[in-house]
Parts: sequence; structure tokens; C-alpha cells
Amino acid sequence: MPLSLKNKTTRLRKNPLLRSLVRETELNIDDLIMPIFFKDGKGTEAVPSMPGINKFSSECLLREAEALGKSGIKSILLFGSSPKKDSSGSSSYNEESQFHKAIKNIKKSSDLIIIADVCLCAFTDHGHCGIAKKTSGKNGAHLQIDDSKTAETLAKIAVSYAKAGADMVAPSAMANGQVKAIRETLDKNGFTDTSIISYSAKYASNFYGPFRGIYDSTPKGSDRKGYQMDFGNKREAIREIFLDIEEGADIVMVKPALSYLDIIQSIRDKVNIPIAAYNVSGEYSMVKAAHLKGWLDEKSVALEILQSIKRAGADIIISYWAKEATKWI
Ligand code: PBG
Repeated sequence: MPLSLKNKTTRLRKNPLLRSLVRETELNIDDLIMPIFFKDGKGTEAVPSMPGINKFSSECLLREAEALGKSGIKSILLFGSSPKKDSSGSSSYNEESQFHKAIKNIKKSSDLIIIADVCLCAFTDHGHCGIAKKTSGKNGAHLQIDDSKTAETLAKIAVSYAKAGADMVAPSAMANGQVKAIRETLDKNGFTDTSIISYSAKYASNFYGPFRGIYDSTPKGSDRKGYQMDFGNKREAIREIFLDIEEGADIVMVKPALSYLDIIQSIRDKVNIPIAAYNVSGEYSMVKAAHLKGWLDEKSVALEILQSIKRAGADIIISYWAKEATKWI
């Protein structure tokens, strides 16, 4: 019996024009956010675990912002830091800090949408994302963070970044009530137009490894499992997302992205606000390393990864490839 070709699946794949006519998802430069690492002092410093990625001092950051603007990038996610670390991360909300000045300068000289990451891990001496609360118990006890103290501090940081010129703040500490505290404090201080992109479903992932080397923020004493999500869980992500929407998030985020496409997809069906996905450092570094060994082609693999995140349902992708992708798309 000859095969019936009535339902021939390759009919619409014959040439590039046909393929683009029926393509279901498209990658857009406008949907990409480029993460940028700040450092005090002068010059730029390469991040060894993430070839192609640098830490920028204030002055270099301005030049980078200009280059990004020219490349077509519209939004950046800024990570602050300070050489002064203490147990409560108090240098994070110092409005005179070099980081705050850097935000002011970018705001003055570019049209980029400035999103400031709001967390304590680059400012605390223990490297945790919040103000730590001692936990009792031996085996398997994980350090927890003091939610109310942490949320209060994060709100202070958010207002200080908004004052400096951030258009959006991105709380990433996974402290309960952080979005509510930030929304209320921003509003009270007149920043009703500053939006919140919340790291709502942030997993205790091993893919953050390269990032933690950047600010020496590998947590001391215990890991982050006391506050970040267990990667065996999916329904819990939906709960986290809904809580953040209730608390006032304008955009919710799933992080990491690549091993969490099922999470993105299940949320897509349930929420009607924009969904962002964070294509994290480990996802970048493993492709980069394989590329440098000649084992795969970075550009094509990166585009496939970004496309898959879009296909899963993300509206916005935060990716270390964002800048380069402007040349590829
Ligand atoms: C913590 C934070 C982390 C990342 C962004 N914000 C690391 C962590 O939670 O340990 C990871 C980003 C990446 O790996 O690219 N504030």
C-alpha cells in the first residue's frame, strides 16, 4: 500500500518563505533584557566563568549603555554591588553609592529601560539574599531569612533605586511579602509609576553557579533551599505567581528558564500579565564552554534556546545573549 500523502507534514517546510509564513513564535529584540553587572572603582573586569560578560564600573557602564542602545537593546537589568558588606547589607540603600550614581547617569544619558535587581546577596557578608534568621535543628535544616526585616530593607532599596532613576525594580530575594512591601513603600514615596518585575518562581537551582562567583555571593554556612523553591515542585510555582500578582507584581518571572520550560508553560495558561523567564548564568556558560571546545555552535544553539523559551510562553527573556542576539535576529 503506498503511503497516503494527504497529510504530508513536510509540505509547508519546502522553502524559507513557507517556513516563515507558518512559524508559530518569533523572537523579537524588544522582548530581550540584557543583564549588566556593576562594580565599584574603575575599568571593566571580565567574568572568567562567563566569557564575553564583564563587570562595569560607573564610567564604563555609561559607554556600555550607549553601545547597547545602538545595538537595539531596549532594557537592561542592573545588578549592584558594594565592597562594603555587613550582616544586614546596609550599603545597598546608600543613595550616595557609586551604583546609585551609575543609575542616575544612565538615566540622564540614555533611553534604556532601567530595571534594578533588588536583593541583598551582593551586600551581605554571609551572602544570603535577605537578613538571616537563625534556625535550630540539625540535619537538613536550612537557614531561613527574616521575612519582615528583609521585606522592609528591600523596600528601602527599591525606593533608593527608583529615586536614582530606575523604571522598574526586580525583587529577587524570595522573601515572603517582598512585593507587597515594595509596592506600598514605592507608592508612599510617590513612585506610583515604578513597576515591579518579580522573581516569583525562583528555584534553588545549581545553574546559578557562574553568577555567584561574580559578587562572591555563594552563601556561607548553608544553601538557599530555605527560601528558594524546590525543583521537584510545579504547583507551588503557580501559588508563588498568584501571591505575587495579588501583592502587586506587574510582571512575574520564572527562573531559571531552560530546565523550567514546563513551569513557564503551565503559568502561561493561567495568568494574564506578562511573563518573564531568566535564562541564567549556568545556561549561558555551558553553551559557551562547549562552543569554545568546538563541540557545538553557540549562535545556533543560543537562538534555539531563546526560541524554546518563547515557545513555552514567555513574553520577555532575560539573557546574557541579549546583546549578541541583536546581531543574530
Ligand atoms: C540573587 C540572584 C541570583 C541570580 C540573580 N539574582 C543568584 C542566586 O539566587 O543565588 C542568578 C542569575 C544567574 O545565574 O544568571 N539575587
